[in-house]
Amino acid sequence: MEKNQSYSVKFFSGEEIPLELHKVRIVQKLNLIPIEERLKAIIAGGFNTFLLTTKSVFLDMLTDSGTNAMSDNQVASMMRADDAYAGSQSYMRLEESIQEVFNCKYYLPVHQGRAAENIISKVFIKPGDVVPMNYHFTTTKAHIEINGGSILEIYTDEALKVKSDHPFKGNLDTAKLKEVIKKYGASKVAYIRLEASTNLIGGQPFSIANMREVRKIAQKHGLMIVLDASLIGENAYFIKQREPEFKNKSIKEILHQMIGLVDLTYFSSRKVSSTRGGGICTNNLEIHNKMKDLVPLFEGFYTYGGMSIREVEAMAVGLIETLDETIISQSPLFIRFMVKELERLGVPVVTPAGGLGVHIDAGQFLSHVPQTEYPAGALASAFFLISGVRGMERGTISSVRDANGNDVLADIELLRLAMPRRVFTLSQVKYAIDRLYWLYKNRKLVGGLKFYEEPPVLRFFGGKLKPTSPWPEKLVAKFRADLGDSL
Ligand code: F0G
Repeated sequence: MEKNQSYSVKFFSGEEIPLELHKVRIVQKLNLIPIEERLKAIIAGGFNTFLLTTKSVFLDMLTDSGTNAMSDNQVASMMRADDAYAGSQSYMRLEESIQEVFNCKYYLPVHQGRAAENIISKVFIKPGDVVPMNYHFTTTKAHIEINGGSILEIYTDEALKVKSDHPFKGNLDTAKLKEVIKKYGASKVAYIRLEASTNLIGGQPFSIANMREVRKIAQKHGLMIVLDASLIGENAYFIKQREPEFKNKSIKEILHQMIGLVDLTYFSSRKVSSTRGGGICTNNLEIHNKMKDLVPLFEGFYTYGGMSIREVEAMAVGLIETLDETIISQSPLFIRFMVKELERLGVPVVTPAGGLGVHIDAGQFLSHVPQTEYPAGALASAFFLISGVRGMERGTISSVRDANGNDVLADIELLRLAMPRRVFTLSQVKYAIDRLYWLYKNRKLVGGLKFYEEPPVLRFFGGKLKPTSPWPEKLVAKFRADLGDSL
């Protein structure tokens, strides 16, 4: 398509709905089980949606990680996988894609995003270092801390406002960055980290203008910038939509601009290319060489890095598809639809609509549940119970305890409803909206949670909780009273 061509489709009726620009040729049957069965499932799963099995889940909105739909071309490419421990042609094809999409000369394959974080943190973090960033991601923070560093979140004042019309809530606050460098000294700053479509604050992008400012400061102090590009396609799409200078640029041009402003880029391919796997890339040979030896140590040989060769092939194709605006716009358009509808119904939701998913403000939704009783976790459980839709807690359960054993309360309590690319239909999304609306009307019935099994690290994955009162049973009874024998 031409560079300046519009990709949006207008309806004559004026209705604003996203139109699927793909057709479905392989389908998977879903299970929508009765609410009584879902109650048993959530009790067995310790009121932790990570511990549910997909047998009891209807719409899996836990994450877009490894769950985006693959294209026909990706699946086809897997058939020609050149299985070789070393020097496979599949890997050569992947390197070509990396060059084209990220414009990077040097690439290191890893089995997923956090494996990249392991290598980067091991090489660049010294005990006592700090890493300023627009916001942390759970695995990023854990890897930095395990290597003796600490994170400094220097987001703008706008970032944590639930209701906002700021187009770039993921921007890094450059005034705060200057203060941090002054306070700690540049020698203590391991690097500056920018996370595209900032996950934990609602999939919010940063602008290229902001990147340029960060770059200037970094250059002045000789600091390296590390870009987490796991959701870079969506961030580039938002730049095209929201940053006037880039209105007529292609996604490829925008990506190259972004990568050109940083020293090192890493990503989870589970998101960016709708596959599995991940990678670290740079144009700086010195930086590359510092990390290179850790790949065979932790991941696998240099030409597969812990990935199956089939994934390597699918990734090579998936990365190129990131350049296709009709593909990367798909989740943002569905997210925008859902956010608009929820706003219309009065359900508290993070705005503007971002990438990754829809983020419900659990703090406001369940304002009667104290933060120490995990409103975002309670909302995730309650929503699964009444709908079969599985979301993810992104609040205090995803946080940690301090040295005294008290919860470090999250900045915001969110229920994340991920919108994997090209997976759900509009009627399924409408179902999710309808059930959320019902839950909002009945929100006072939902109570809190407390841990009875709590792992010391990344507790949100395996921790088990129970309700602080018999609220789940009350919710089931009200559901039956209002919706009869509906599933
Ligand atoms: N960075 C970001 C911004 C991420 O969103 C993720 C994963 C990672 C790094 C780690 O990558 O899972 O491949 O090891 N996010 C997933 C999610 C888990 O559900 O948002 P990984």
